[in-house]
Amino acid sequence: MLEVKYNHSRDPLLRRPLSIYRTRANGQISFLYKEVGKGTRLLSKRRPGEIIRVLGPLGKGFRLIHDRQCILVGGGLGIASLLLLAERLKQSCKLIILLGAGNASGIPTIEDFSRLTRNFHVSTEDGSLGQKGMVTDLLSQTLLEIKGMAQIYTCGPWPMMKAVYHMARERNIPCQVSLEATMACGLGLCLGCAVPRSDSQGFLHVCKEGPVFNADQVNWEYSQ
Ligand SMILES: Cc1cc2nc3c(=O)[nH]c(=O)nc-3n(C[C@H](O)[C@H](O)[C@H](O)COP(=O)(O)OP(=O)(O)OC[C@H]3O[C@@H](n4cnc5c(N)ncnc54)[C@H](O)[C@@H]3O)c2cc1C
Ligand code: FES
Repeated sequence: MLEVKYNHSRDPLLRRPLSIYRTRANGQISFLYKEVGKGTRLLSKRRPGEIIRVLGPLGKGFRLIHDRQCILVGGGLGIASLLLLAERLKQSCKLIILLGAGNASGIPTIEDFSRLTRNFHVSTEDGSLGQKGMVTDLLSQTLLEIKGMAQIYTCGPWPMMKAVYHMARERNIPCQVSLEATMACGLGLCLGCAVPRSDSQGFLHVCKEGPVFNADQVNWEYSQ
């Protein structure tokens, strides 16, 4: 969670959640974010050398599964939570990376991913980069081609992750999802990030129990 207010202002009061995109041996961490509103706009105005207060890392990340091929499906800026995972998985399993966005500018750091595996595919809705269409089209082709056990990891817009979950479930492939929810405290106190559970036993708290869950824990009929 990054504090975005500055110059002694109290506005915006709430920190904004961002995934750690990359880490370096010297302790540096990087974020990849899209300017969508006030908080991210303020963040984009910060200059080198300025101090940004960060609370984290928070919550629970992806669980690494090594004994099978791993398929990463990223949509839009959801790719920001997948690079570290891809770098770790690359060392121990066959890695397939599928990324999608509305247009080419939606995947600004494509080389970070393409250098990790030959099994790298990209799609854009307008056809400006890679195959024209949705990233779920790439996933459907991939699922026809693969043999043996697989694990899916995904992060992106809710409708995309819902579609990925259904495709995985049809083929009995386990799927981990990294959810986005509006967050306030980031510590499990305010319950602002609650998403209904599939078993109707209450809510999943994205900041503390997640943001990564097994996809079958989530009630996908919930609309944010
Ligand atoms: C676990 C997690 C990881 C994330 N990682 C990234 C990332 O790596 N890169 C990235 O670009 N974005 C990421 N996001 C989304 C990012 O947090 C929001 O885009 C950002 O908080 C918007 O703040 P804003 O003030 O610019 O926009 P606002 O003006 O507040 O709102 C603009 C839009 O962003 C949504 N939003 C606002 N506040 C939040 C919030 N606190 N949490 C979630 N959504 C919000 C609103 O619903 C609205 O649609 C992540 C979200 C979560 C929950
Ligand atoms: S953001 Fe407060 S409980 Fe999750």
